[in-house]
Amino acid sequence: MSSFSPSKNHSYRSLIRKLLPWTFYAIIPLVFFRLYFYPCTVSHSNLILISSSPFSFSPSTLEEESAKETTPCDYTNGDWVRDERGPLYNGTSCGTIKEGQNCNSHGRPDMGYLYWRWKPKQCKLPRFDPDTFLRLLRNKHLAFVGDSMARNQLESLLCMLATASAPKLVYRDGEDNKFRRWHFDSHNIDISIYWSPFLVKGVEKSNAGPNHNKLYLDHVDERWAADMNGFDLIVLSIGHWFLHPAVYYKGDSILGCHHCPGLNYTEIGFYDVLRKALKTTLKTAIERRGGGSNGNGTKVILTTFSPSHFEGDWDKFGACPKTKPYQEGDKSLEGMDAEMRKIEIEEVEAAKLSAMQFDYLRLEALDVTKLSLMRPDGHPGPYMYPFPFANGVTERVQNDCVHWCLPGPIDTWNEILLEVIKRWDYQSIREE
Ligand SMILES: *[C@@H]1O[C@H](CO)[C@@H](O)[C@H](O)[C@H]1NC(C)=O
Ligand SMILES: *[C@@H]1O[C@H](CO)[C@@H](O)[C@H](O)[C@H]1NC(C)=O
Ligand SMILES: *[C@@H]1O[C@H](CO)[C@@H](O)[C@H](O)[C@H]1NC(C)=O
Repeated sequence: MSSFSPSKNHSYRSLIRKLLPWTFYAIIPLVFFRLYFYPCTVSHSNLILISSSPFSFSPSTLEEESAKETTPCDYTNGDWVRDERGPLYNGTSCGTIKEGQNCNSHGRPDMGYLYWRWKPKQCKLPRFDPDTFLRLLRNKHLAFVGDSMARNQLESLLCMLATASAPKLVYRDGEDNKFRRWHFDSHNIDISIYWSPFLVKGVEKSNAGPNHNKLYLDHVDERWAADMNGFDLIVLSIGHWFLHPAVYYKGDSILGCHHCPGLNYTEIGFYDVLRKALKTTLKTAIERRGGGSNGNGTKVILTTFSPSHFEGDWDKFGACPKTKPYQEGDKSLEGMDAEMRKIEIEEVEAAKLSAMQFDYLRLEALDVTKLSLMRPDGHPGPYMYPFPFANGVTERVQNDCVHWCLPGPIDTWNEILLEVIKRWDYQSIREE
């Protein structure tokens, strides 16, 4: 646990100070990967998109073929296959790409990573259709809540939707664009992003404050949850922030900590903590949005853990050098990636059971861990900064092997998101 040497710690701190915190927070925990990367085999529970209650999206989509398949699709197992069509947008056509993820505009030379399509084994995953998405979300509010991976997924979605209808930025808060909202006038849709890297109440470590996070595991983070009544669909996405040093609270008592030398608390790791945070979050969503008096309730989707792909030191040339996806059998889901995903799937399944009595509440896991694991080629790497090799190749260069280039593999997450929404819509019509 304590192999984290002070000198390394120091150089990290000085590095971190230089970096945009909101871009880079997810990379810091990678130092801890080795500490927690122990092998463990995990059984894969499948993504089942059957539920017994009606979904109230507008009833005009009987033609949605892919939603009508009688066997629910398992999107988790499949292959990346070549697709000459390429992405719906590019780094110049979409205005809402975070600088650090705009890979081709930053000089990433290879384009091959843009020409792959995820092909589930047993069913078809259609290309993203922005018009269908907009139609199904008419008059709704979709909120993304979580860390920078939530933002990455949101920006992918906005770029794809923008090819059909222009989003208008109608709200942003002062600090780092952590809270933003767009409005689609064409369909009266709101799409927003809420920064909440733990979902539960927390105090993030900072240069000014403590050098560890504080998590209050029995309280949801009201920075987003206070607005919950206005959401029709919530996409939750967390994970990497749980790897940071942290102290965990429940009520007034301290449960323990993670990587907190000098604080004399019990090291409890972060797996149980993630589980507790999800339990609190999903329980709160069910309590607040389950009741019939809340009308149409809320649909909650949890995007599962997104693996990173560092090979060796993260600040070394070639930290994530691959230019092609892994193929079946090249790479298995294991260690921390598998464990984080398993906890997330289990907590969504548990929440589904406790929400069964509520007609209008639906929960689902958006299981992207495996398909993302197979895309080591999809990260910005050194192209998190513009033209990193303009003055020649250097041995030391900062790499982002956590977030995803836009366009890129993360667009697939939203293709699956659309399939979930289509299926719910189809079921709600069939059951009426
Ligand atoms: C990006 O997309 C726009 C609009 O579709 C197109 O005009 C432009 O040529 C594309 N740029 C690149 C570099 O492909
Ligand atoms: C650490 O905590 C234990 C148990 O609470 C206590 O007995 C011990 O004195 C503490 N050590 C230090 C250095 O504070
Ligand atoms: C539920 O949603 C439908 C369709 O969007 C809408 O017509 C209806 O008024 C809503 N019901 C309530 C109670 O909000």
